[in-house]
Amino acid sequence: MAVLLTSGFPMTRKMLSLLVLVPALLLAGCGEVEDTRPGQPVKTRQEAFKDLLRSFEPMSKMMKEGRYDADEFARMSTDFMAKRNAPWSHFGSDTNYPPSKAKPEVWQDVAAFERAKQDFFASSDALNAAAQARDKTRGENLYFRVYDTCKSCHDSFRHR
Ligand code: HEC
Repeated sequence: MAVLLTSGFPMTRKMLSLLVLVPALLLAGCGEVEDTRPGQPVKTRQEAFKDLLRSFEPMSKMMKEGRYDADEFARMSTDFMAKRNAPWSHFGSDTNYPPSKAKPEVWQDVAAFERAKQDFFASSDALNAAAQARDKTRGENLYFRVYDTCKSCHDSFRHR
């Protein structure tokens, strides 16, 4: 099956996979249960993750649509970097309750969760360096590496 972009460029497997990858990050859906605890830690971290996705997605959209713009990509990366710290401080010790989709492993295997987080920070540092250097090829490849760190943490630490 030949998949073409409207511009006529043949779509690479990588680009094609972007069509399905990013929506998959959203699969957790919305919590039907209201977070009634003081400070709403679960709701706050979920909102922070959604916000992170909202700034991550436009980068893939730009690549997918074959309209890479180095300055705009750099700006989006800066925006993403500004949001990547937000969720983590809301994983307090007694905060695994509905509507959370977090697995108990977040609190049971603290070291592994921390490693997953550090992988995510390291890969997004690298992505940002490539984005700021206006390096398209490295930027695109590193985008996928960051994506993998989101996905792999979700596989281990978030219910579907
Ligand atoms: C170190 C682990 C980890 C990494 C890395 C990670 N996440 Fe998550 N994410 C979680 C956990 C745990 C939850 C579930 C939070 C909850 O429901 O309490 C979650 C939830 C989400 C949600 C659902 C929020 C909701 O409303 O239920 C989205 C969207 C999301 N993450 C996007 C991302 C994106 C995009 C990335 C990478 C750019 C990412 N996450 C990286 C652990 C991670």
